[in-house]
Amino acid sequence: MSRMPIVGGNWKMNAGNGTTKQSVVELVEGLNAAPKPSSGCEVFVAVPYIYLDSVSSTIDKSFKVSAQNMYKEAKGAFTGEISGEMLMDMGISTVIIGHSERRDIFGETDALLGAKISKALSLGMRVVACCGEHKEEREAGTTMDVLVPQLEAIVANTEDWSNLVIAYEPVWAIGTGLTATPEQAQDTHAKIREWLASKIGTTADGVRIQYGGSVNDKNAAELAKAPDIDGFLVGGASLKAGPFSTIYGVF
Ligand code: G3H
Repeated sequence: MSRMPIVGGNWKMNAGNGTTKQSVVELVEGLNAAPKPSSGCEVFVAVPYIYLDSVSSTIDKSFKVSAQNMYKEAKGAFTGEISGEMLMDMGISTVIIGHSERRDIFGETDALLGAKISKALSLGMRVVACCGEHKEEREAGTTMDVLVPQLEAIVANTEDWSNLVIAYEPVWAIGTGLTATPEQAQDTHAKIREWLASKIGTTADGVRIQYGGSVNDKNAAELAKAPDIDGFLVGGASLKAGPFSTIYGVF
């Protein structure tokens, strides 16, 4: 089954390639001047909440704008949180949920992430749900044992799979320069799809699985050839327009 590739630039807690409104403007200007994504590839930038509005109103419409997180409730006494309802009201209909930094630094559990996924999907949002294993887990041969509970939380909270994208991000490859080889990534993507098929049948053929972890303008083309890699979730290399446009340009 053909799946439209999807490439995301996750800016994380970066204002473009800096810490200022001006550095955001510069990255948006760079992207607006860069080669546009092909019509056969969906591209989004996931920006810090505070810049969602300004980036949405200035970036070329060939890029979607995404949030990096949201809370599971609509409103209330949840200091520091942002709801899906608020994002949708701002015209932001894509959200990353369960990035390993949310899990490892902020202690987000599969139960909480499942509730967020359910809420976001119920609002009609496109969800990029992340999963991944740590270095010692891969070395111990327990990658799928780690991924399965993460995937179960996704499956348990997803009825309509048309808006659900999985991002497989081995934690050992994130920000380390240690990219998974195309063989390693393909092998895990295929196992994820096979596991999904055991739960949701042939619907799994249509679920897009992004790879994330030290993707850059040099390794993207080779990774993109793997049949079960349906795009990338890019961190550091998405902070400069040139490398990011080269990466989405491989699709
Ligand atoms: O969300 C993006 C991933 O964490 C990958 O980050 O490309 O800097 O390794 P990275």
